[in-house]
Amino acid sequence: MSLNHVQQTKLQMAAEPWSMTLADVTSALASVPLFSGFSQKQIRLVAERGREYKYKAGTAIVEDGSIGVGFYMVLNGRVEVRKGPRVLARLSNGQYFGEMSLIDGEPRSADVLAVQPTECFTLSTQVFYALIKQHPELALLMLKELAKRLRAAQNSN
Ligand code: CMP
Repeated sequence: MSLNHVQQTKLQMAAEPWSMTLADVTSALASVPLFSGFSQKQIRLVAERGREYKYKAGTAIVEDGSIGVGFYMVLNGRVEVRKGPRVLARLSNGQYFGEMSLIDGEPRSADVLAVQPTECFTLSTQVFYALIKQHPELALLMLKELAKRLRAAQNSN
């Protein structure tokens, strides 16, 4: 068994699957800037295709070096993106992470830890790709966010 598989298994155990009503997920996603160009019906379709997970404070949601299998949106709570002891970013409601590994197929670039009890909406790699093909404007919004995060990282060095 590879180390990455062990890491993935540990992460799956740390996550508690949890179900919100479709109406609640739809209304949470409707306030997220990434989906600002989506109609209510399109947001509902996204909501139907994802899953919700809860994480206790202190739990690793994504681990540096593990194989990336999902895209994460924070619905409620707060996470820190960390590289070793360095905090690269703090993300909260409506912000997302995990897109980098899905884009380039490389292992996760950083740890992402829940620093409060946190609820996330997740999309599988396949759904993430299908969504971008159907809504290319998502890729542009993500590129803008990627540039913003890169600039912030450069400024913090
Ligand atoms: P991924 O590499 O899949 O998994 C770790 C995630 O942390 C990464 O995708 C990004 O979503 C996020 N991340 C990595 N580096 C930074 C950074 N400098 N600023 C904000 N978020 C980051």
